[in-house]
Amino acid sequence: MDMLTVSHVSKSFGENRVVDDLSFSVAEHTIFGFIGQNGAGKTTTMNMILGLLKAESGEIRVNGEAVRFGRTPTNAYIGYLPDVPEFYGFMTPGEYLDLCGKVTGMTRAQRERKSAELLDLVGLGGAHKRIQGFSRGMKQRLGIAQALLSDPLLLICDEPTSALDPLGRKEILDLLLHVKDRTTVVFSTHILSDVERICDEAAFLHRGRLALGGKLQELKSIRQSGGLELEFYSAAEAERFKALFPASGSLTALKLTLKQQTQEETRNVLRMLAARNIPVRRIERLEPELEDLFMEMVRE
Ligand SMILES: Nc1ncnc2c1ncn2[C@@H]1O[C@H](COP(=O)(O)OP(=O)(O)OP(=O)(O)O)[C@@H](O)[C@H]1O
Ligand SMILES: [Mg+2]
Repeated sequence: MDMLTVSHVSKSFGENRVVDDLSFSVAEHTIFGFIGQNGAGKTTTMNMILGLLKAESGEIRVNGEAVRFGRTPTNAYIGYLPDVPEFYGFMTPGEYLDLCGKVTGMTRAQRERKSAELLDLVGLGGAHKRIQGFSRGMKQRLGIAQALLSDPLLLICDEPTSALDPLGRKEILDLLLHVKDRTTVVFSTHILSDVERICDEAAFLHRGRLALGGKLQELKSIRQSGGLELEFYSAAEAERFKALFPASGSLTALKLTLKQQTQEETRNVLRMLAARNIPVRRIERLEPELEDLFMEMVRE
């Protein structure tokens, strides 16, 4: 079943159409990456899913129920981590989760049990210091614990890794992967390697429109293969060979990189090397990267 469906949703601020006929769906127990540059419309879309902003047209469903602008009942299914989470710095993480639990009407016993379980889950079980002394990564992890407090069917995180260093990012990604058993995860990012690392599906948003979407494997196979990198023994030989590929080759010192080679094109490269008797030190097939795909789309 689809946990989230966004169908033909549009939103403008004044003259500026920031989400334009956007449609995608997210299957249960998957991790869905919502990719886009600054200003692409990621946060605006998430705000519409949460009923915090009114969609001008189209429909959004969470767990099969239509989202209504305002206090939408569908938010009972959602745990949300905003892009800049705010905490009370004077509290410890346990006190903070306790407060959040109180606000949502959990009993003391439920609060104690959930808070201990979730702090362990996010690796803050032993953290008794005040939140104001937390690193950004610790704050994000606490934010995820808070978002999971009500056992949501859908966890929405707005750029959870953007402000973190590589280690902090890895911790958050591992955590999202870990919670996939208990919930469906949608997170936004502009870091493509994050998506490649943990997502089952992804949607690329460009200027409010869905530029590309689908299963990660399918997205990658859109390009038959990545490029080819050849390393030569001499600059003269490298130059000579590059002249055969004026459009697609880029040369730095002894290395020639050829873009997007189909199998037939690769065979052709090898034939040409042999025919011209140019020795190569190394030939390597480059894996297709989402990054390339994204850059191609954005250029269009
Ligand atoms: N309340 C608002 N009033 C007017 N314009 C807005 C408002 N909120 C967002 N916008 C504009 O809508 C566009 C999309 O913004 P949005 O915050 O959804 O992008 P984003 O993909 O989340 O970007 P970022 O990566 O910077 O968080 C931007 O051009 C932004 O300036
Ligand atoms: Mg945003």
